Amino acid sequence: MNKESSTILITGGAGFIGSALVRHLIASTDCQVINVDKLTYAGNLDSLAEAADSPRHVFEQTDICDAPALGRLFEKHRPDAVMHLAAESHVDRSIAGPAEFIRTNITGTYNLLETARSYWNELDADKQKRFRFLHVSTDEVYGSLGPEGLFCEETPYRPNSPYAASKASSDHLVRAWHHTYGLPVLITNCSNNYGPYQFPEKLIPLMILNALEGKFLPLYGKGENVRDWLYVKDHARALHTVLEKGQPGRTYNIGGRCEKKNIEVVRAICSILDELRQVTGDGLQVTEDGDGLRVTGDTAEAPVTSHHSLITFVPDRPGHDLRYAIDDTRIRTELGWSPKESFETGLRKTVQWYVNNPEWIRRVRTGEYSQWIKTNYDTQGRGRF
Ligand code: NAD
Ligand code: TYD
Repeated sequence: MNKESSTILITGGAGFIGSALVRHLIASTDCQVINVDKLTYAGNLDSLAEAADSPRHVFEQTDICDAPALGRLFEKHRPDAVMHLAAESHVDRSIAGPAEFIRTNITGTYNLLETARSYWNELDADKQKRFRFLHVSTDEVYGSLGPEGLFCEETPYRPNSPYAASKASSDHLVRAWHHTYGLPVLITNCSNNYGPYQFPEKLIPLMILNALEGKFLPLYGKGENVRDWLYVKDHARALHTVLEKGQPGRTYNIGGRCEKKNIEVVRAICSILDELRQVTGDGLQVTEDGDGLRVTGDTAEAPVTSHHSLITFVPDRPGHDLRYAIDDTRIRTELGWSPKESFETGLRKTVQWYVNNPEWIRRVRTGEYSQWIKTNYDTQGRGRF
């Protein structure tokens, strides 16, 4: 895949990472982007406003579990590559209800592979050689690390959560479609992402929004679990790099070389917010209302000591993986990618983005963002939506 004006079919392009990838491809390449997304609770067309006016961005609301619909999309758009990000992505939801994870992450990936394979089989030799299927996965497939060591591409799979197990299954399917049928696949396994437009169920946006609203910041267990954080724009660039330069059949780990305990992450968010909101004063107010304990103390309402006071330890997540950390030597040395953002600069940008975008937050909080069909969608699925 080295033709800049290619057509790329992206699944999950209305999600957190997918929308960052779409924005990146529209802004930095000449690619035509076909954005295939079911628009679950995690899909948000508001996050694609920057790409809305581009004639190179086409949105197709489709479920990847609908195989005939996928077949029609491949015939209609004749993609040169697929970048597969559509998934159920939140560990806590997978613990509460794994069924959708099995459906989308495993069956959906299987459908996409089969659709891509029959389309690829009919391509002429030149197009067949250039075609790529990039499967976007997670470092959680490798299981949990102790205090030492890193995940490399050869680390055996030991997924612990239903989410991780469903992603591991999908990785195995993708690998098998290469081994058995010769489909030119690439697999990436990335560490935890953060940045603008992330749905506020994941650690970093949840903590920022709760802190902004004066709510408690719930840390699981002792807050000592470790994640390796990567700014989402760096991930989007990495995915494009792997698509352009990666070797079919190969896996690339992507990470930030940025290990942090959860408590460190939350403390860093609190410190940035303290600074941005010029916290002075001497006390948060804790009151009881219908929804339980409530903390007030916004600078507008009452003096705030510090957002740090909101940190609360809550019962641990079942089966909580202790530590993830990525060895990203392969993508750095073979493909020349490295992150541009440090955790300090990336986190500051992220907090500032949420502070600056109350309307995005409001529409997510009220559910208005999912009323997309009434307000945003051009039924032709082209250009503005
Ligand atoms: P997300 O939950 O923000 O977005 C997922 C998107 O997929 C949404 O737009 C949703 O509408 C869409 N989708 C879900 N089910 C679908 C279906 N059946 N058909 C079509 N579309 C469907 O997820 P994300 O955080 O952007 O993650 C994207 C991918 O990257 C996932 O495959 C995830 O496993 C992987 N990943 C995520 C992280 C992370 O930290 N978020 C890290 C590594 C890998
Ligand atoms: P999360 O963002 O859900 O990503 P993942 O579980 O895929 O790594 O969680 C990141 C870390 O933060 C993880 O160790 C669980 C922890 N966590 C909390 O302590 N409190 C929370 O409210 C959430 C959502 C996560």
